[in-house]
Amino acid sequence: MVSLNTVWQYLALQSPLQLHSTMMSGDSFNLIKMGVTTFALPALPYAYDALEPHISAQIMELHHGKHHQTYVTNLNKALESHIAAVAAGDVAAQIALQQVIKFNGGGHINHSLFWQNLAPAGSDETKLEQAKELVAAIERTWGGFDTFKNAFSTALLEIQGSGWGWLTREAGSGGGLRIVTTKDQDPVVGGDVVIFGVDMWEHAYYLQYMNGKAAYVENIWNVINWKTAEDRFLGRSEEKNEL
Ligand SMILES: [Fe+2]
Repeated sequence: MVSLNTVWQYLALQSPLQLHSTMMSGDSFNLIKMGVTTFALPALPYAYDALEPHISAQIMELHHGKHHQTYVTNLNKALESHIAAVAAGDVAAQIALQQVIKFNGGGHINHSLFWQNLAPAGSDETKLEQAKELVAAIERTWGGFDTFKNAFSTALLEIQGSGWGWLTREAGSGGGLRIVTTKDQDPVVGGDVVIFGVDMWEHAYYLQYMNGKAAYVENIWNVINWKTAEDRFLGRSEEKNEL
């Protein structure tokens, strides 16, 4: 008999991102009653219209309040279902739920990281001088900031379908910087640290930019939070980006 603690460790959803306790009424397997942590939508660190004109208030309201909320809701439901499936010894159901947990758990983590690595254009957080050590590392790695910026933008535009682009620092001390992309809602894994990420799903830009994906990518640079990026690069952030 597998204990619930063992199940939880197996799921390994130990991210501190917006851990929150909420009652989920009507479910026979209640995560809170079982002492299991559930997840909640994190509040944005700025108003919905704060990123205009680069990202519209309408996009932000739908993206955060609807899309991200749905990932959180479905993650909690899937975790409850998974625990019920374990208790029932239903291995087929457990297997079927793995992709649901991966997709919605990744969606929650990715968006939580994304909101924090954006800031209103013109604010102190968006000034490159906030990230002196990170920028120096970028220049060492790519030979110049503009070269990096072009490489990152190109990687974003080469994503086929839905996905994310990330600047990451490889796991371990002295880990180097690299640009990676992930498909759908796959999160960055393997111990690599996310410095910042950009959502390349159509829901992130289509209402404002329509098919002008390149314009979205060009404008996203105006709202990158370089203070958050520096904190993540230097290990000063408590955020985690792994399932
Ligand atoms: Fe998104």
